Amino acid sequence: MKIKSLSVSKGDFNLQDYNQMYGSFDWTEVEKEFSWFETGKVNVAYEAIDRHADSFRKNKVALYYQDASRNEKYTFKEMKERSNQVANVLKEIGVEKGDRVFIFMPRSPELYFAALGTIKVGAIVGPLFEAFMQAAVKDRLEDSGAKVLITTPDLLQRVPFEELPRLQHIFLVGENIQEEGIYLDFNRRIQQAGKKFDIEWVDRQDGLILHYTSGSTGKPKGVLHVHNAMLQHYQTAKWVLDLKEDDIYWCTADPGWVTGTSYGIFGPWLMGASNVIIGGRFSPESWYQAIEDYGVTVWYSAPTAFRMLMSAGDELIKRYDLSTLRHMASVGEPLNPEVVHWGIKVFNNRIHDTWWMTETGAQLICNYPCMEIKPGSMGKPLPGIVAAIVDNNGDVLPPYRMGNLAIRKGWPSMMSEIWNNHEKYESCFLKDEWYVSGDSAYMDEDGYFWFQGRVDDVIMTSGERVGPFEVESKLVEHTAVAEAGVIGKPDPVRGEIIKAFIALREGYTASDELIEEIRQFVKKGLAAHAAPREIEFRDKLPKTRSGKIMRRVLKAWELNLPVGDLSTMED
Ligand code: PRX
Repeated sequence: MKIKSLSVSKGDFNLQDYNQMYGSFDWTEVEKEFSWFETGKVNVAYEAIDRHADSFRKNKVALYYQDASRNEKYTFKEMKERSNQVANVLKEIGVEKGDRVFIFMPRSPELYFAALGTIKVGAIVGPLFEAFMQAAVKDRLEDSGAKVLITTPDLLQRVPFEELPRLQHIFLVGENIQEEGIYLDFNRRIQQAGKKFDIEWVDRQDGLILHYTSGSTGKPKGVLHVHNAMLQHYQTAKWVLDLKEDDIYWCTADPGWVTGTSYGIFGPWLMGASNVIIGGRFSPESWYQAIEDYGVTVWYSAPTAFRMLMSAGDELIKRYDLSTLRHMASVGEPLNPEVVHWGIKVFNNRIHDTWWMTETGAQLICNYPCMEIKPGSMGKPLPGIVAAIVDNNGDVLPPYRMGNLAIRKGWPSMMSEIWNNHEKYESCFLKDEWYVSGDSAYMDEDGYFWFQGRVDDVIMTSGERVGPFEVESKLVEHTAVAEAGVIGKPDPVRGEIIKAFIALREGYTASDELIEEIRQFVKKGLAAHAAPREIEFRDKLPKTRSGKIMRRVLKAWELNLPVGDLSTMED
């Protein structure tokens, strides 16, 4: 089927508008859509929930929630009340503007009430993915100086609160909670709290959300976003996700990752859309069922998920009514042309690739419904955004030259700081003009960008970003491991898988049992998605004279490529 013959909606944002605004869009136009345009005082939770609750959308469903044991829905009015109750409870225990409140729990309606309530008191939300194990949880709570944690009894054993002196309160979300010491009963306190709350109005540059993400060196870093990001969450939900009044929208990402907040909370609700949240694990059957049950019209997911659906076979799809789907988009890793063609075949719909990252806070380079897509390309920059390919000095390269994908500093949802690490923040920019993404890409003569790979050693596995350093640090804590080097190995479904090269300590011998034991060690200590799928033992690992493992040599070994310049390698 030809792309042009598609009957799907082309979106309200037309090509002429795009071309007119490209590179020159004035963001103050978007500010005028919000009540704070004149006062300058803002709160995203007001704009995303209360504004609709006080309007004709009051009884519109804001949240549809489903998992194996729950099936619930909440209107904007109910979301306003629940989040007000959370805000009252937080205020009562002394949470103030700028405090960090972390949420570590599986998806559930309470997670969303908690995030919105935190924002209403002016505090900063720190979402943690439920799969994190103790070391990962501790690093993040410690670095951020979190004052409050909202979690479940099941996950509590992964929270080493005796080692976290700044953590003052832990809310437990569950049944029959005994309040004692720092433990508080979330549900009971919320039920007893008032449904009215005076929102804390903050400045547009005040902290909103802190997402920890991985780089190739050092511990995970806390990427801070501010309330001003809402301008871009709103505008991209309109232009890129093409959300309209009657849409039923489903973003499959967990709020532990930036996609699950920017486009699982802010974007859709700023637009007043009905938002579907499905808890539990991925399965092709339950995903297709969810689309049918809710009549999902706009769907935002990731290449790994699409590839898994693709490998589940096209016969399965025929059992479901997926005819409501109007618009599909993808983020997180390269979207193979193969997947785009599959989407056209089975959904009669194009999957629109979008490019952005935790640090950018919102979509930047995208395929728009109004535009011809080039399968394999990430698309074109959002109006108001200047993207370029620059060399290592920050000089712009011409079309087709491969280099660093960079964005001109100052877009509304740009990270405002790296928590406790201003030096690292500064190091992300070149010439004080370009934010350098760490991705390499080129631009073609039509202005479409084409992803080529990471410049650094960051691993993208199933759309999740894993820092090799974090995995290596965990590996060497195992008694049998002397040295470890970790790389991403290309994989047809997951994009990359994590592969570890390990040199064992004296007295240990390689065996399948040891491999399994080491894998479990990382799984239990860090997170399941961070555990190496493959482990290979070597007598010695390639290192620089200063003792750094040379991952590029490991990668060359793995891929049978030339190892390149070895002048810095030790003997
Ligand atoms: O390498 C790029 C890849 O994901 C990285 C950002 O990861 P994270 O901060 O976890 O955010 C993921 C979702 C916003 C990028 O540096 N990436 C993201 N989108 C794409 C992509 N790679 C290729 N194509 C994309 N569309």
